[in-house]
Amino acid sequence: MSSKLDVVLGLQWGDEGKGKIVDVLAGRYPAVARFQGGPNAGHSLHFDGKSFVVRSIPSGIFRDGSVNIIGSGVVLDPVTFKEECANVAAMGIEPKERIVISKKAHLILPTHRLLDAAYEAAAGKGKIGSTLKGIGPTYTDKVGRHGLRVGDILTPDFKDRFAKLKARHHRLLDDLHYEYDPCHGEAEWMEAVDFLKEFELVDCEYFVDNLLKEGKAILAEGAQGSMLDVDFGSYPFVTSSSTTVGGVCTGLGLAPSRVGKVFGIFKAYCTRVGSGPFPTELFDETGERLRQIGHEYGAVTGRPRRCGWLDLVALKYTVMIDGVTDLIMMKSDCLDGFETIKACTAYKVDGKLTDQVPFDISTEIEPVYTEFPGWKKDLTGIRSEDGLPKEFKDYVKFIEDYLGVPVTIISLGPDREATIERV
Ligand code: IMO
Ligand code: MG
Repeated sequence: MSSKLDVVLGLQWGDEGKGKIVDVLAGRYPAVARFQGGPNAGHSLHFDGKSFVVRSIPSGIFRDGSVNIIGSGVVLDPVTFKEECANVAAMGIEPKERIVISKKAHLILPTHRLLDAAYEAAAGKGKIGSTLKGIGPTYTDKVGRHGLRVGDILTPDFKDRFAKLKARHHRLLDDLHYEYDPCHGEAEWMEAVDFLKEFELVDCEYFVDNLLKEGKAILAEGAQGSMLDVDFGSYPFVTSSSTTVGGVCTGLGLAPSRVGKVFGIFKAYCTRVGSGPFPTELFDETGERLRQIGHEYGAVTGRPRRCGWLDLVALKYTVMIDGVTDLIMMKSDCLDGFETIKACTAYKVDGKLTDQVPFDISTEIEPVYTEFPGWKKDLTGIRSEDGLPKEFKDYVKFIEDYLGVPVTIISLGPDREATIERV
């Protein structure tokens, strides 16, 4: 019987802990697939006393016998990918045996990164706070039908097509009066393209179809978060891909009927890195406290993350869009020391209460909070539901009732082992 493809999606503004959960769940799935985004992602894994950050490589890489698919909707930077592979190889794992790459994934060129920097420099106050990995310009070329794809590296005229696209980028950079080295990063990039040729390059849609037909379940690993989705996030302060459930189908070439469970991940509080609206952001010592306890600094850029209370209005919106079947709650242990814990349960916009995310989320939104007594107990060593304090269970129950979806996994620390399953 044909298997289903289950999905892990971040429900907030990214950095929810997708890497850890995919790593935990990957033991049950023969294959893990990335379907969108690129090296703007930074997924952290911790096991056997070691830590690891993956960017383009799926988080299933450390599971024996796993197939890790870089799907068609991904944008791939050969240079970062090669570096990542070297890090994986240093752990005693041969990346070529575990990774396949879609021929239809688009390539990030060195000039895409320059354009990212140039656009940000020109944006002044409207800066997106991009990770500067070239994501936006690469997706722009994809949609504009100028892009280069992984499969193109095998064609005889690849270098000519590269030169043509590079020249186009140079014209854009000149228009922006951005200074650059015309050969910036090119030699290294071409070497990394040769390295890509050593991998199995696949027709992703057939590859995925065959795995499922063989009864092999696949776990799709989302990058970024649903509030950063190009259509449904806090536009224009978003990333340039579909981070919501629809992106799984377009990014892998998969029919919606073949999607099984949708695991939605959220932190017990909220963070955001980069610019853009964030209704529950805290500018006081509580925000700073969350940042310190949660080590809220970017895994890719090292930037301090903005912190705030859990936003249930935004969460309900993304649970709806993604059709979440199972909720996964991360970093609850970071709230251990708090006397009271707050969650935003309504927005006040123009003096009116609403439980919906408005069209323009950057308008003046006053978050309305519900307060909960803290549990004031160290949760990190707890490994079973029975050991959890009543106040904590009440808080989780409130979230489940508000969202109408059960919390089936609770994570109480970065390690694989610090995970409670509730089914
Ligand atoms: P993971 O997968 C958090 C943010 C950037 C910026 C905006 C656009 O680790 O959760 P981009 O480089 O994509 O053009 O930046 O999106 N952003 C992320 N924030 N986690 C991520 O990935 C992110 N990837 C991009 O900070 O505000
Ligand atoms: Mg991250």
